[in-house]
Amino acid sequence: MKQQPLNSVTFYDFHPVQANLHDEVLRGLNQAIRGIPPKFFYDERGSQLFDDICNTPEYYPTRTEIGILQHNINAISECLGSECLLVEPGSGSSEKVRLLLDDVKPQAYVPMDISKEYLLAAAEQLALEYPWLDIHATCIDFTKAMTLPLATDEHRTVAFFPGSSIGNFEPRDAIHFLKNIANLVQPHGGLLIGVDLKKAPNILNAAYNDTRGVTAEFNFNLLRRINRELHADFDVNKFEHRAFYNESDGRIEMHLVSTENQEININGDTFRFEAGESIHTENSYKYSVEEFKALANQAGFDLVNVWTDADNLFSVHYYQIL
Ligand code: TRP
Repeated sequence: MKQQPLNSVTFYDFHPVQANLHDEVLRGLNQAIRGIPPKFFYDERGSQLFDDICNTPEYYPTRTEIGILQHNINAISECLGSECLLVEPGSGSSEKVRLLLDDVKPQAYVPMDISKEYLLAAAEQLALEYPWLDIHATCIDFTKAMTLPLATDEHRTVAFFPGSSIGNFEPRDAIHFLKNIANLVQPHGGLLIGVDLKKAPNILNAAYNDTRGVTAEFNFNLLRRINRELHADFDVNKFEHRAFYNESDGRIEMHLVSTENQEININGDTFRFEAGESIHTENSYKYSVEEFKALANQAGFDLVNVWTDADNLFSVHYYQIL
């Protein structure tokens, strides 16, 4: 009998604590070096803008990673083995996993996301397109320790973490996150992860400064969101988007820089900005294959295989527990 699409999604709620925008923005702006955590980029408008960034001509990572996955799908499926339990922390719209499903044929797919509504909508859409797929949607904060919602039999658990999202962690937090992944997939699990590579700074700088200004708008949306949700009075015309490759730290830094001396009110609190003062909004670390392999080793993972594109822009790695 044909499975009903809606029946193929099981939902588990670990009731993750949602971050408090007001508390974290105030804390970030009271620091000597001001910053706002990047997780607040992703309200509805921010998520839409992020999808638009991925389609700009300058932003090579998305299409390059997709190409690598498509090109090497046979070798990738072979690494993952038959009937793995495929887990995706921060699954969002579950877009990229579609490139794997038909070939990998996992025993089940476990999308994990902190946003319950988004997770459910994405899982139900996926169920419509893949009626044979057993989906266990899990609402959880993937930056904390994670637990699988179902027991696995003899098959291996494999985590999928594409998009070089690992680059948005500080390297020591990345190791911590990878250790959490290792705990999730142990004893004989794996990790398929997309990592953006170090390269000529002009290519990196262009990727985060697209000429249409989509990345700038994504950055400004953080201020617009704070205005909308916290009754603040940021004038986005008095800030500028600044993104540049910091070569000594091996990372793209994204900032919002005040273009004049000004005062901002957020729900009764006043913040003074000097002309040129910045709010640091995100880092995106870039690695060589060797550097990333060393990082993953520290979390207990052993490199099995790595695939890149012809221009060595991006890499997809497969690791197993040591
Ligand atoms: N992780 C990807 C990267 O660092 C995608 C991403 C996250 C991104 N935040 C971003 C891209 C901000 C552009 C701007 O590239």
